Amino acid sequence: MKLGKLTKRWLCLALCVLLCGCGTVDTENGTPNEPVDEEQVSSMPEEGERNFLEQYEKDGTLPCLSDLYADNFSIGIAIERTDLSTQVKQELIMSQFNSITCGNEMKADYTLSRDKSVQYGEEDYPVVDMTKAEPLLMFASESGMKLRGHTLVWFSQTPRWLFAEGFSDDLNAPLVSKELMLKRMENYIQQVIEYCNENYPGLIYAWDVVNEAIEPSSTEENHLRVDENYWYEVIGAEYIEKAFEYARKYAEPEQKLYYNDYNCYDKTKTFAIYDMAEALKEKGLIDGIGLQSHIGMTYPSISDYEYTITKFGQLGVEIQITELDISQEDNSEEAQMELAQRYKRVFQMYKKLDDMQLADITNVTIWGFTDDRSWLRSKGGPNYPLLFDKDFNAKLAFFGAAMDDSIELY
Ligand code: G3I
Repeated sequence: MKLGKLTKRWLCLALCVLLCGCGTVDTENGTPNEPVDEEQVSSMPEEGERNFLEQYEKDGTLPCLSDLYADNFSIGIAIERTDLSTQVKQELIMSQFNSITCGNEMKADYTLSRDKSVQYGEEDYPVVDMTKAEPLLMFASESGMKLRGHTLVWFSQTPRWLFAEGFSDDLNAPLVSKELMLKRMENYIQQVIEYCNENYPGLIYAWDVVNEAIEPSSTEENHLRVDENYWYEVIGAEYIEKAFEYARKYAEPEQKLYYNDYNCYDKTKTFAIYDMAEALKEKGLIDGIGLQSHIGMTYPSISDYEYTITKFGQLGVEIQITELDISQEDNSEEAQMELAQRYKRVFQMYKKLDDMQLADITNVTIWGFTDDRSWLRSKGGPNYPLLFDKDFNAKLAFFGAAMDDSIELY
């Protein structure tokens, strides 16, 4: 898709951007939201973007990933609000992807307001404020993309005060009872889902209902994660089923409910996830399993990875690759060619499994837009794991993901 063809979309995006920047959206309880604390969207290309535009115009079209895989699965990208700060960034995202995941903005530490919860004064009612997710929801909606809701119940990025009496942020405050916590969980899930569905009907096609609940080293039944997991501490093992039950109650029938996890190809984890999903499926509570897929250059092997996807596929649930990136600390041309080959191999495998109906793969999402903003950089060292470089140039890895002939496999 050529940039020129997308110009019309800019008009509707300009409206979206204007609304996001002004923070005009009201919350459910009528309290005006605070303005978004992000930079204003600029229509002027930034320095790196100018290089990208020149290259793009000179070379003509890039293959469009979402078109290439249209017969198999949608192609998603995880972004944060800052990724929408210029029209060029928005254009590039729209030109390649047809699914969005919020990198952070739909997690509990972004969607919950402690001040509003305390002010509201009901012990069972934590108040949700979707201000930070709004620009992303609006962008996805206005640009005709679909969105994965990530994530409702997770041990991480969920504030302790959600579990504490009086929503106290004192780290020694006593935790609430299981009964009260279940009500808080239901009210939380209801608010997030209903906010999205009422304001953006039809936008969200999948919810990550529970994220990362299995930990192979755990000695609990089915290796349930215990450490630093307040959901487990307060509610017990039942929290997983309850989360799916509430999500099913409030989600639209066409919205798919997912269990999402990393390192799924660890055999202990594969079987624990399989058993958990099987039990949830018998109760009609789960529709899919998300394999995050933060993978390395050699781990997992393609055959182990394929085995896991096929095994989950045998449950008759959908499969999504929800957070794909491939850690590559070396930015030399040779190392980046190896990265491109690895991308090509995993995409070939996804397509093959879906074509052969060994797994119903419905989405593949890349976890991040440009290398410089990858979460892998937060580990301290360099990393060049994604499809675009910091100047928005399509890397060799992009052509690997596109299964382009220029990326030769041996
Ligand atoms: O927004 C603040 C900013 O105000 C502050 O100046 C800055 C200083 O560190 O931090 C910013 O917050 C960071 C946030 O990302 C936004 O960029 C947090 O420190 C940082 O911890 C957070 O990391 C996120 C991580 O989840 C936290 O768990 C990554 O962006 C996000 O990509 C990552 O995503 C997770 C998936 O949700 C679940 N699977 C694993 C995946 C990778 O860890």
